[in-house]
Amino acid sequence: MCGIMGYVGEREAAAVLIDGLRALEYRGYDSVGIAVLDDAGEMAIHKRAGKLNAFAAEVAAREASGRQGIGHTRWATHGAPSDINAHPHTDCSGKVVVIHNGIVENFVELKQSLRAEGHNFQSDTDTEVIPHLIEHYLGEGASIDAAVRETITRISGAHAILAMTLAEPGVIIAARIGNAGGVVIGYGHGENYLASDLPAILPHTRRVVFLEDGEVARVARGAVTFSRDGRTVDKVPQDVPYDPVSAAKGSYKHFMQKEIAEQPEAILDTLRGRALFSESRVSLEDIGLDADQLRQIRRVLLVGMGTSLHGAMIGRYFMEQIARIPAEAENASEWRYRDSIIGPETLVVSVSQSGETVDTLAAMEEARLKGCPQVTICNVVGGQATRIADGVVYTRCGLEIGVASTKTYVAAITAVYLLACYLGQERGLIDRERMAGLLQPLAQLPFQTGEVMKRNGEYERLAQEFFRCNNFLFLGRGIQYPVAMEGALKLKEVSYIHAEGYAAGEMKHGPIALIDRDMPVIALAPRDQLRDKMLSNIQQVKAREGTVVALATAGDQEIAETADHIVWLPEATPLLNPVLTSLPLQAFAYHVAVRRGCDVDQPRNLAKTVTVE
Ligand code: M6R
Repeated sequence: MCGIMGYVGEREAAAVLIDGLRALEYRGYDSVGIAVLDDAGEMAIHKRAGKLNAFAAEVAAREASGRQGIGHTRWATHGAPSDINAHPHTDCSGKVVVIHNGIVENFVELKQSLRAEGHNFQSDTDTEVIPHLIEHYLGEGASIDAAVRETITRISGAHAILAMTLAEPGVIIAARIGNAGGVVIGYGHGENYLASDLPAILPHTRRVVFLEDGEVARVARGAVTFSRDGRTVDKVPQDVPYDPVSAAKGSYKHFMQKEIAEQPEAILDTLRGRALFSESRVSLEDIGLDADQLRQIRRVLLVGMGTSLHGAMIGRYFMEQIARIPAEAENASEWRYRDSIIGPETLVVSVSQSGETVDTLAAMEEARLKGCPQVTICNVVGGQATRIADGVVYTRCGLEIGVASTKTYVAAITAVYLLACYLGQERGLIDRERMAGLLQPLAQLPFQTGEVMKRNGEYERLAQEFFRCNNFLFLGRGIQYPVAMEGALKLKEVSYIHAEGYAAGEMKHGPIALIDRDMPVIALAPRDQLRDKMLSNIQQVKAREGTVVALATAGDQEIAETADHIVWLPEATPLLNPVLTSLPLQAFAYHVAVRRGCDVDQPRNLAKTVTVE
């Protein structure tokens, strides 16, 4: 899940590459590197461990010149994040340079056989076999296109690759195999761009082509051609929208802070034109399934990973309680290997901010093979998930830069709610009156989220009180259970504090042994049918001298008097409470991380888009 960027044109490539990599750093930031080919046929490679800023200053000082180049920002899989393991990697002669996203699963045996042919390796990476394989085929007289084509037949796994060679200046070859993140090609005037994702390209052009599995592109300054298995493929560039304002941090200190604040708007934008309040109807423009297909659904399977899995788990309640369809939510990385008994009667709903998460895509492929109709909830326009699914409900959040998902999670919950309403409506289960009752709370949601965010000072004070703790327990029941898991995940990923999210009913079956004064318990107890059970859990924690921070609906004095700290929430329908309970947990995690001096937007070891297993 690294970021890859390429440029060939009239401008200085190094600056274009570095700007592009800045937009891709969410995919990894263990190391960074570029290779630039100048007009005299000299290849300059700069690479080093660490983040982009220091690297950019170094490259600027060296004045790397040339109008063609490739660049990479790495999330390490094989080999430590060191200078030598940073991409680009080269062949023995230094004439072939390669950057790569993916894992060469058979690299050990390939290295052995290449070593036996006399190839020498510099790094511990799996990637380095790729330039050596290309060198091997070039040595047999192949063109660079043919050499890359042969190379991709030798490597196992899923990959996105960019390659250049001194033997054919002016050309960058791109290849995509499987779902290791995409390759998108941007068409400029007398210049062309390549990247793993749109944000790197959209400041320059909106005319793009996405490379599909098995395709190879030959990108020159004035021409782009495509092939598959050596045969030409015709592809027509499409125009994609871009809002550059959403990419800027503005007056906020961190993207995470900005993105938390943007949530009322993200919900509103996700609802716009879909929740038709005056007509008591839901309209989903790109659902991709006809009335017959919708009627035949007997079951819904929601899949996702991380925060998106938590959104899927919340969506399960919507499917059962709104659309009255039996529903399950599964971790995509587990489900994909289970050979689950599933077929055309099951609607698969994948939740993925990026639309590029490898396990979610693999689960979708598995579902496709089994004949399931599919809808994806995705934020990135044109993400791979949108191309596998029959239909899509886009969350309209704009770019989310912070590695920790916030606004896209809340918008995904909103989108799945809409989808459940739509399914109920199209299957004739929800009449206008019931739909009015389901939509009305949605209309209030942007305002209510705004109200919750106004209490930011309280979340900051709680963070001040607790930021030195080393363990946290988050408890929730029913639809609040996934929120408890999400609260714990958010705290873990941005502040590096150990936190567990538990179903509160499970507490007595083990976790209660952990309760003491040093482990705060965050209890999600908004007003719903399980609120009394949560009160019992809070009392049980208090009886063991635990410290409780409770999230409760305004006016619930009993909870306030039992807990040590109270976070008030507006009165809402229980099904939409997860949006309101999630916001203080995100803000709490953010403030704790800031107090602990953590890199909030780029936490250690993480990447925004996970394109490897
Ligand atoms: O792009 P996706 O929504 O498919 O990503 C799934 C997870 O990797 C993602 O939600 C991850 O858990 C976030 N870092 C959580 O904040």
